[in-house]
Amino acid sequence: MTEAARLSRKAMKRAIQNGASTGNAETDATVQKWKLQGKLMRAKGKRKALKGAGDWPQGKQCDSYIDHSAGSPMSSAAMIRWASSNSSLLAYLYPQKKPETVEEGWQALLPGCRVVPSGCWCFHVAGSMVKADNPRGAERCVPKDTLMNCMDPAAGAFHMMSRRNCSCFAQRPAAPPCLFGDMRPAKLLAIISACRAAGVTHIIEQGRYGGLSAYIYALHGFKVTSVELLPLVEVSAAMRTLAPQLTMVDADGRASVIELVNAAPKDEKLAVIFDGEKRHTAYETYLSVKQRVSLAAFDDSNLDSGDFPKMLQTRGEAAWHTWDCAFMREHNDSHPLRFLEKELIAAGKQLLDKELSTGVPGNAVQKLRRQKQIDEHGRLMFHGGMEDLSRFHTTLVRGGGAWLA
Ligand SMILES: C[S@@+](CC[C@H](N)C(=O)[O-])C[C@H]1O[C@@H](n2cnc3c(N)ncnc32)[C@H](O)[C@@H]1O
Repeated sequence: MTEAARLSRKAMKRAIQNGASTGNAETDATVQKWKLQGKLMRAKGKRKALKGAGDWPQGKQCDSYIDHSAGSPMSSAAMIRWASSNSSLLAYLYPQKKPETVEEGWQALLPGCRVVPSGCWCFHVAGSMVKADNPRGAERCVPKDTLMNCMDPAAGAFHMMSRRNCSCFAQRPAAPPCLFGDMRPAKLLAIISACRAAGVTHIIEQGRYGGLSAYIYALHGFKVTSVELLPLVEVSAAMRTLAPQLTMVDADGRASVIELVNAAPKDEKLAVIFDGEKRHTAYETYLSVKQRVSLAAFDDSNLDSGDFPKMLQTRGEAAWHTWDCAFMREHNDSHPLRFLEKELIAAGKQLLDKELSTGVPGNAVQKLRRQKQIDEHGRLMFHGGMEDLSRFHTTLVRGGGAWLA
């Protein structure tokens, strides 16, 4: 038996967390070695994160497909002007200290939410993301943006995925409503500012998931219709309590967006936010409604190494993207994102503590990282990348509908 295994788990845990001596020089040296390994892993992780965690764009590529020509309808300068003139919106999205309520300032999850570490499906399902509450959930799954049966071995990698456990958010029992969202402040700033510049009155969002993005659009004065193929029961209930005026449509997003746009009263100015269908698939749906909408937003537009903005440019679309270096310099959202990061590090630590109390102490971090339960910063990981929202970007496209500005 090794010295590490002989030492009581409690003393080892104390030594790792507080730097206390275990009373044994050999074991103290082992603890120091683990700590150093941890530091190296974190430093490596930081370097990776600075480069964009392997995603596009990296470094100077942040100017890719950004229009700097004066008078262009979606230029960098216009976006910065629209965003910077919204002072109350800026104060809401970039609060100095963590706001008590989402009505007061941006939050990624409401206080009524609980973290369910390592007990959830790793793709979108209807009803509940918590496996124990929804054991057959994977029979209707949307791992990308197509409905399938992930219980069926024919689903291949997605069937394998159904055997893994991920973390998620869920309603805390007997607590205020829980909504959560993955639209970070800089994306919301861009979307809301451009909608205001266009005079948009009605936002149609495709892809509700935790509901918070739809609720935030409603809080900022828009009429909102939120479409979801796989609605979560708790989210729908929370939304009915918090925003009874918001319309929820539970159906396939492609057909619904087309129907909703065609049925909208003539005096409404429309924006469609594609956060269900992604990139090229979303663009196909967009083409069916383009002439009637003033603005369209496409989320996760950077995830195919620049393919999507390239296609938009080839097709002559007036587009702008949140990776714009000048915009992100002006409206960097790393400060408000830190509030969420702290919560996810605390949740990751809880999972680590649980692992330390049951497993072999020295392997706990490596095991959780290998299983993609925590990342290199110790943050609890979520399917969809909630632990690192800064890696994801949104593209805005000017539609054929009329604009104010
Ligand atoms: C990234 S989440 C949406 C997040 C949410 N808008 C936010 O910002 O917090 C994507 C959601 O779109 C849904 N979805 C995927 N494909 C869809 C489709 N074709 N129609 C409607 N919803 C779809 C998924 O079930 C999932 O709940």
